Amino acid sequence: MSITLSKLAMNIGDSPTLKINSKARALKAAGEPVVHLGGGEPTYPAPQAAVEAIIKKAQTRKIKYTPSSGTPELKAAVLDYTEKYYGRRYEPSQVIISAGAKQALFNFLLAAVEPGDEVVFPSPYWVSYPEMVRMAGGKPVMVRGSGTGLEVGAGDILKAVTPKTKVILINSPCNPSGQIYSEEFIKQVVEFAEKQNIFLVMDDIYHQLVFDGKKTPNPCAYAKEAKNLVIINGVSKLYGMTGLRIGWAVSVHKELIAAMGRIQSQSTSCNGDLSEVGAAAALKGDQSCVQDLCRILQENRDVLLQEAAKIPYVRVEKPAGTFYSFMDFSHYNADSNALAQYLLEKALVAVVPGVSFGAEGYLRISYCADKDSIIEGMRRIRWALDKNAPKEIKIGDKLLTRD
Ligand SMILES: Cc1ncc(COP(=O)(O)O)c(C=O)c1O
Repeated sequence: MSITLSKLAMNIGDSPTLKINSKARALKAAGEPVVHLGGGEPTYPAPQAAVEAIIKKAQTRKIKYTPSSGTPELKAAVLDYTEKYYGRRYEPSQVIISAGAKQALFNFLLAAVEPGDEVVFPSPYWVSYPEMVRMAGGKPVMVRGSGTGLEVGAGDILKAVTPKTKVILINSPCNPSGQIYSEEFIKQVVEFAEKQNIFLVMDDIYHQLVFDGKKTPNPCAYAKEAKNLVIINGVSKLYGMTGLRIGWAVSVHKELIAAMGRIQSQSTSCNGDLSEVGAAAALKGDQSCVQDLCRILQENRDVLLQEAAKIPYVRVEKPAGTFYSFMDFSHYNADSNALAQYLLEKALVAVVPGVSFGAEGYLRISYCADKDSIIEGMRRIRWALDKNAPKEIKIGDKLLTRD
């Protein structure tokens, strides 16, 4: 007898990044010398303060349920952080702590989106946005720029808004392109959302991971009442603590935060006790680790761009932040899924196909790994694509053979 699964389950695709991660991990576990340039987590160790606080808490042997929307200590740390970086003081009833920025965003969508409501966001976009919007019953509206490159202007976004639009969602700097939206872009979108009474969600998970002295524009600088503004963030990328699973959402709209809290209380109940302690300690501790991380990532980015320049016909815009680059490989293969598959099979290099981010012909290449891996990965990609290169190369005692 076959069991029928729900339409929701059948219509939701796997996260392509997590899929590539597990494939690369499986190959590595089987002893293959895989270079992983597909990942979304810095290899940087967790801040010492977070580790010590977690150990201390664990030693009490009291690891219990926590208040559903977050402990007062962690909420206070998030509110201090928000005031420091956004210049606006929120109250504890205006913040919810969740299992990662992803759950914070998902709670928001479940709380705000009615069936058929449109959620507008620039393309290329983070792979999870369309599926998350669909799971909430909404319609994702991906907006491509009207120019020739990948750049999406505020005008492009505003033009895509219809009476059904409930949310505009912006991620700056952007996964996958690493581009920061300009002050003018953020100003226009913030003011528009406020005037039109549309939610503006800023997915700010990378907002401090910026290079060359650049800054991500502060949406609060342009939001008079900020009643439609929802800021999402977390500790995953900021402190390299993806495994802690702590993120948050902040909004003036207390009813929204309360609704998100009800959804969370009936789904996950609360966050991990140890995780909340670790996140609070990281937020309250010495922040020099963030500068160190940015410095390392900027160096990695420069190494990656240097290596990319050795591959003819590959085009890339210099990332201003994150730890991703989005490279146009369409000269070699317009089918990015096929190309990513080819590179994994032949060169044992994991990258993520651009089509998952809404841009066919591109590959997302991460530079959160160490420099040697970046150089080796790009060397293998160059070899796999160069028709004049030898058909075989030796990697340790492994022979790689390309088409
Ligand atoms: C744009 C964006 N938002 C949110 C997240 C999720 O972060 P978290 O680990 O806090 O759930 C990611 C992770 O890759 C991301 O790239």
